[in-house]
Amino acid sequence: MSTFYITTPIYYVNGEPHIGHAYTTIVADAMARHYRQRGYDTFFLTGTDEHGLKVQREAERQGITPKELADRNSDSFKRLFEKLELTHDRFIRTTDEDHKHVVEHIVQRMKDAGDIYLDSYSGWYAASDEAFYDEDEIEDGKAISSGSDVEWVEEASYFFRLSKYEKPLLNWYKENHHHVQTDARRNEVASFVDGGLRDLSISRTTFEWGIPFPADPEHVLYVWVDALTNYITGVGAFTNDEMFNKFWPADCHLIGKDILRFHAVYWPAFLMSAELPLPKQVFAHGWWMNEGQKMSKSLGNFLDAFELADEYPLDLLRYHLIREIPLGSDGNFVKARVVGRNNSELADNLGNLVNRSMAMTNKFCDGKVPAYIGTTAEVDVALKANAENVRKEVEEALDRRETHRALELIMGFSADLNQYVAMTTPWKLNKEGETQRLNAVMYHLLEGVRWVAVMAHAFIPRAAAAILKAFGIEDEYPQYDTLEWGGLANQTPINAPEVLFTKLELPEEEAKPEPKKESKPKQESKPKNEGIIEFDDFLKVELKVAHIKAAERVEGADKLLKLTIDAGEDETRTVVAGIAKSYEPEALVDKRVAMVANLKPRKVFGVLSQGMLLAVDTADGGLELAEYSANVAPGTRIS
Ligand code: MSP
Repeated sequence: MSTFYITTPIYYVNGEPHIGHAYTTIVADAMARHYRQRGYDTFFLTGTDEHGLKVQREAERQGITPKELADRNSDSFKRLFEKLELTHDRFIRTTDEDHKHVVEHIVQRMKDAGDIYLDSYSGWYAASDEAFYDEDEIEDGKAISSGSDVEWVEEASYFFRLSKYEKPLLNWYKENHHHVQTDARRNEVASFVDGGLRDLSISRTTFEWGIPFPADPEHVLYVWVDALTNYITGVGAFTNDEMFNKFWPADCHLIGKDILRFHAVYWPAFLMSAELPLPKQVFAHGWWMNEGQKMSKSLGNFLDAFELADEYPLDLLRYHLIREIPLGSDGNFVKARVVGRNNSELADNLGNLVNRSMAMTNKFCDGKVPAYIGTTAEVDVALKANAENVRKEVEEALDRRETHRALELIMGFSADLNQYVAMTTPWKLNKEGETQRLNAVMYHLLEGVRWVAVMAHAFIPRAAAAILKAFGIEDEYPQYDTLEWGGLANQTPINAPEVLFTKLELPEEEAKPEPKKESKPKQESKPKNEGIIEFDDFLKVELKVAHIKAAERVEGADKLLKLTIDAGEDETRTVVAGIAKSYEPEALVDKRVAMVANLKPRKVFGVLSQGMLLAVDTADGGLELAEYSANVAPGTRIS
């Protein structure tokens, strides 16, 4: 039997779980469920990272022992994951007894390989990241990449010969692009390694909260050696060979982009040194912002994971987190968008599909699945082909870790089923007494609903279970091999679920119309040249050529389009423009238009808009954008 082993990072216990922790673990859970549904013997590991300076300091601050802090917060993560109904097979803690032995083993193997030596370390360390930084990675007392404070460290230390693994690591990245994902992140890591690797300090003597360095308890092992090793402890390394051989190497280490270096450089190097197989994949996902703002301690704007789980139905939270951003990209958590997705996608699309198909079954088919009589009607044949294609594409999307795409496909199929109802009009068939055709249509519809529910299980397990229960199917992980078109048994009684998705109200501040700007207090005496500005004033407005890379409608706002813009900068911008009545989204892609580039970003319908396009009103009441030819490079200043 094929196996699938997926891990999340283990979470630091210095604080409470937030959206970032919930996100990784929910995505990993969806993957674990999906592969279980495909018959893979699956192991899903998550847990807490409890040692190190960062945890010790937080415990000191709170006046408790590190172990007390670890117990308390580890428990909090555990409770969160239970509340989120996640299906991890083990919740590992780095203070677990078996883990200590595995760490001792791996370090011993690294020693045996001649890869560990004693020297002294002097350099910069950021306790918040538990990371060492080179001089050129520091600015104004902070690590440039993370913004964390650094401190100078000088002490005796054991080193790992990381430099020895430069070439093997580069080969590993090159050998198979699947090993480190996304492509952009792999390229970043590869160029970091290509720039030369220095040996890594892997022990500290100035604090105590950690696993003692084997054979030299004066030293505490560097927390990342300890932490990364959890991935092999979790599947029985050095304790349960059968299990270890079955699940190792991991199929996917799902992590956040900030900890890629540890996973794609240090971890494979440790494993090479210890002569253990390398993971099949390290996949770095992006970061969430809160309503357009980076979350930070100083702003106190972390989205608390428990609060999110209280505020939204579980399925909606999973659905939104997975659907909102491609795995690998950054995202912006906007409450209005969660509500929008709930109402227009879950309730209006899927909820409506299930309600109407089950209600029609009651009305027209005596509450039972009608007999399936093969059909040659073009719409039916097309529906079956569509279902089979979606199923295949969902599997492929998951194999590429495109979780958002999988959901898009499933919901697209749900919309196609709604379309099928509109095309086949069962109520008319019923009225006209076309029983045979009616039965064929209703069978196809219900079979389609079953397929949607099976595929959706990994993402919205509660709703999927409720739908499948209506068909009398109560498998813990509804299997993909039941997806044979025609698999739904004739005469199955249908017990429609009560309500699948309840519509939600927009958060208050979003529902209110934007407050009218207060007009400025009138000036006492009007300047003479009213309306005339200085050239310098004109220069304050930064007009630039914007290349439209993508365009889509903003759900629930019929005038708005959300555009992805290349303005010649490192990152693309999002611009919301009120031009949906004049332009189809597809027609905009690749156009070069004029944009005000230095307007203060503004939230429009829950989306942060980072620019404004220039357009004129046309005689017919539409809008026409100012355009440039392909000769003009994106970002060119308009003056
Ligand atoms: N303990 C280490 C991981 C060790 S793995 C062997 C650690 N822990 S953490 O608790 O700080 O972070 C855990 C994960 O949360 C990381 O993958 C990080 O990327 C993720 N996130 C932290 N903030 C995040 C967002 N704002 N958005 C999405 N994920 C974020 O690092």
